[in-house]
Amino acid sequence: MPTPILSKESLIPGKTSKLVLEAPQIAGKARPGHFVILRMNEKGERIPLTIADTDPEKGTITIVYLVMGKSTAVLESLNAGDAILDVCGPLGRATHIEKRGTVVCVGGGTGIAAMHHIAKGHSRIGNRVVGIIGARSKDLLLFEKELKSFVDELLISTDDGSYGHKGLVTELLKDRLEKDREVFEVVAVGPVPMMSAVAETTRPFGVKTTVSLNPVMVDGIGMCGACRVTVGGETRFACVDGPEFDGHQVDFAELRRRLGAFREQETQSLELWRC
Ligand code: FES
Repeated sequence: MPTPILSKESLIPGKTSKLVLEAPQIAGKARPGHFVILRMNEKGERIPLTIADTDPEKGTITIVYLVMGKSTAVLESLNAGDAILDVCGPLGRATHIEKRGTVVCVGGGTGIAAMHHIAKGHSRIGNRVVGIIGARSKDLLLFEKELKSFVDELLISTDDGSYGHKGLVTELLKDRLEKDREVFEVVAVGPVPMMSAVAETTRPFGVKTTVSLNPVMVDGIGMCGACRVTVGGETRFACVDGPEFDGHQVDFAELRRRLGAFREQETQSLELWRC
């Protein structure tokens, strides 16, 4: 049955939006770290999106997406009152959350929305949560208000210095790890270069580092092999073994290559759709 869109909020006009979907079965089961796969129409591509929030009582889930190809452009053309043909989930393994002390949650780009759900899980169980979010400039920062409502501390960086620290999230992270030896885990969700840099930043400190990977996916249930990643020298499927993995073990260079494998076709497809 198609999934109704209850509300749509443009976070970055034309680029990033937040949708609240009526999906009571998914909302009742989804935990932080889970994702859904969407298909907008019968011939449509299947796209994975990490769940940014749930409200089991209202039976809703929240997703946030970046318009970067035809499928997300089709999604962006929908509005409240429209419906998405298929929303399949919750998929993947939920984040491992236990009460241990201080966790640092790092988010970049639309990954901040997914990180928000994980950070909320840590906060609810009683961990002290330090959030670190970054963007190129202030107008591209997402979920600041939502995060501020529950994290113990929120550190912000922008590349151009228009808000918060001028520089990278990894600079704030390094500074925090030098000052605070009690951090038991760092969680990072965002662009591949950012997650890779976070893993290199935490490595000398020996702090457990969890990253949420975003490879190309097709079926989302471990059958097609599209989402394979190399972790600790072994092939893993992000859809069923992840999407979260030990950041110190991930082959980020391979992930980047595989993510770029269909870039040309993706661009052509978007251009044809826009014509
Ligand atoms: Fe097919 Fe993971 S998406 S195996």
